[in-house]
Parts: sequence; C-alpha cells; structure tokens
Amino acid sequence: MKLIGIVIAVMLIGQAIVLAGVLPMIPIFNQDGDTASLESLAADPDGTQFAELVDWDSENFVSYWEQGLTPETYEEILDMGRDIYIAEGCSQCHTQQVRTVGNDVERYGDASTLRGQNNDLNAPQLLGTHRVGPDLANEGGLRSNAWHIAHFWNPRDVIPNSIMPSYQWFFEDKGVLNEKGYAIIAYMQWLGSYNPVAPADEE
Ligand code: HEC
Repeated sequence: MKLIGIVIAVMLIGQAIVLAGVLPMIPIFNQDGDTASLESLAADPDGTQFAELVDWDSENFVSYWEQGLTPETYEEILDMGRDIYIAEGCSQCHTQQVRTVGNDVERYGDASTLRGQNNDLNAPQLLGTHRVGPDLANEGGLRSNAWHIAHFWNPRDVIPNSIMPSYQWFFEDKGVLNEKGYAIIAYMQWLGSYNPVAPADEE
C-alpha cells in the first residue's frame, strides 16, 4: 500500500513539473525573430514625440547633449530613461503588462505580447506586480510632453488627489528639464511604440 502511495506521489509531482514548469516555457522558445537591439529601436528619432520636446527648448537640450538629437544620443537617452525608471522604483507602483483578462484592454489599450517585449529595452522586462498607479505599457503618446513635465514636477498640479511622489530632481528649475527629466520622458513616450503591428491588423 505504501509503495502505491509513493508511486502516485511521484507521478503527481512529475505532472506538476510538466504543467507548471515545462509547458509555460514553450512560447519563449517559439518566439520568431531576433531580439531587437537598442540601436535599431533608437534608429529614427525624427518625428517622435520626444523630438518635439527637444525642439521645444533645444538650447537647453544641447547643454546636456551637444550633438543634439541623433540616433546615438537617442539610444543613450532611452537607455538612461530605463535605468532611472529602475533606480527610482517606478515599478513598485506601475506595471508594464496589459493582460487579456478583466477590463485590462479597455483601460490600458492593446494587450502586451511576447513579440512586443522582445527587445533590448525590455530585457529583463519590468512587468511589475503592483498597480498603485496605472499600467504604463502603452504610455507612449497618451499624454503630451507638457503634461509629463507638469506631472513629474508635482503630480497634484494635474491630478489633484494623486499619491504619486513628485520628482523635482528631474528638473533644473520649474518647467526646465535636466538630463534625468529628458531621459524619463523619452522613455515614457517610447513605451508601447515598439509594439509590432500584427499581420492581421496591417490589413
Ligand atoms: C507611490 C506610488 C508611485 C510611484 C513610486 C510612482 N508612481 Fe506614477 N503614478 C502613481 C499614481 C497613483 C498615478 C495616478 C495618478 C496620477 O496620474 O498622478 C500615477 C501616474 C503616473 C503616470 C500617468 C499615467 C497616465 O497616463 O495616466 C505616469 C506617466 C507615471 N505615473 C510615471 C511614473 C514614473 C516614471 C515613476 C518613477 C519615476 C512613477 N510614476 C512613480 C503612483 C506612483
């Protein structure tokens, strides 16, 4: 009797490993295409919402990046934006994963896909687990640059009962961004812009 019990236990453990451990890994190996490099993500800064921010006060911008906005500086800025997002603990309050359950898509836009996550700026992914604030996976283009400037200076100036901290160290002075401010807004305006269009949508 004891032996049967042990055999069944081993089988159930094996089943659990396959169902919860091996099967979920299959989509990772089935991804088609290579991981998009940071270089390719930053290849075309012209026409982005961030380029508008640079134009708006280019004198201030070139005091930080004297070459102006080029693919090389944009690459550096996006990478820095991601680092600041990590360092400031933004993902303690924000997720970057729109799920297909509940009303996620209704609230936050297109569901996140493996292909969309498959790029250097999402490695490793900053999916997050807490939604004290809204999901940011599709934040790019949702708000104007001016909105972000006002919001990072003091969230309560735009959302009266916001509990998001203010980030005045992203600024030289009120309304004047410093290096960090440019980088975090570039990253915000980039989020979701890299979602590849599904072939079905293209039609
Ligand atoms: C203590 C939790 C908390 C932290 C930490 C936090 N946020 Fe927020 N965030 C919120 C809340 C709550 C809101 C919703 C109210 C508002 O818009 O201020 C929000 C809103 C936002 C929005 C507006 C989203 C939209 O379009 O409605 C952006 C962008 C944002 N946060 C970015 C950041 C970034 C970047 C950081 C890190 C530098 C950060 N947040 C840190 C709580 C937080």
